[in-house]
Amino acid sequence: MRVCGGMAPQKLNTNKTSSNTIAYRFSGRMLIYVTFSLFLFQKRGDCKVNTQIIAIANQKGGVGKTTTCTNLGIGLAQAGRKVLLIDGDPQGSLTISLGHPQPDKLPFTLSDAMGRILMDEPLRPSEGILHHPEGVDLMPADIQLSGMEVSLVNAMSRETILRQYLDTVKGQYSHILIDCQPSLGMLTVNALAAANRVIIPVQAEYLPAKGLEQLLQTVNKVKRQINPKLQIDGILLTMVDNRTNFAKEIAALLRETYGSKIKVFATEIPHSVRAKEISAEGKSIFAHDPGGKVAESYKNLTQEVTKLEKQREKSRAGIGR
Ligand SMILES: Nc1ncnc2c1ncn2[C@@H]1O[C@H](COP(=O)(O)OP(=O)(O)O)[C@@H](O)[C@H]1O
Ligand SMILES: [Mg+2]
Repeated sequence: MRVCGGMAPQKLNTNKTSSNTIAYRFSGRMLIYVTFSLFLFQKRGDCKVNTQIIAIANQKGGVGKTTTCTNLGIGLAQAGRKVLLIDGDPQGSLTISLGHPQPDKLPFTLSDAMGRILMDEPLRPSEGILHHPEGVDLMPADIQLSGMEVSLVNAMSRETILRQYLDTVKGQYSHILIDCQPSLGMLTVNALAAANRVIIPVQAEYLPAKGLEQLLQTVNKVKRQINPKLQIDGILLTMVDNRTNFAKEIAALLRETYGSKIKVFATEIPHSVRAKEISAEGKSIFAHDPGGKVAESYKNLTQEVTKLEKQREKSRAGIGR
């Protein structure tokens, strides 16, 4: 009896231990299963995020690239998109326009991010990204970016350093807009190599034929040699003074010369002193002059850009079927 009595609790213990072991094993398996499912889910999620990367480019300065990057970016954010703006100009105009008047005092800028890629050093996905109160994120730039451009000249994969950086952050965004510097140098080539779309702002007062030809040649070269996905969204007429016939003539000439090859956006951005004021204010035209004609135009441009995206998606789906 004693033995039995002694055995019984022992047996009970054994059962308890084995049921504990089973429970541990089960929860261990569950943990592996849940982790694996989450991993797959995230992977699938990443695949689904088809980030639109738009370079705003023209080697001519003062044509409205930075203003377009700010207001199209914030326009897209207001339409519910998750937007990152990249300041690709060592002058840091976009950074200044978004409320950071002294870019060289910032602890981390695009040159640091590209430097990490260049040196194969680790980089946290959100490192150095600033948040603007109007709902966009910003990777700022300062003058060090011109030094980065020089070091790119001898670097391996020098045209794709920005693309490699964007690969680390793009999963978090539906749209990334790159404000290009006013040249066709290595930074602009990097922007074109990273982008799948280009918008070309053209000032309506400036007869752009020769400059535009050079830009189109560069875009085509990048498309052929580095980035076959690259497409020109269109030419955007900026600072249009509708009181003059001259602006209308330029617009008509542009449509006549390029209209068959390249879309010229139906939206034209009017000239307005209110648009000139926004860079000093650190905010968008939507916040600065919400009822004005420039705000309305940038809203229309946002709609044209998203419509284009949907059309392309549809035609891709059509091809895929
Ligand atoms: N629609 C507009 N009306 C009046 N001035 C504008 C307009 N858009 C931009 N500007 C001004 O023109 C100048 C050049 O614009 P910006 O966007 O900086 O061009 P870019 O980036 O091509 O050099 C800036 O002073 C800017 O405030
Ligand atoms: Mg600029």
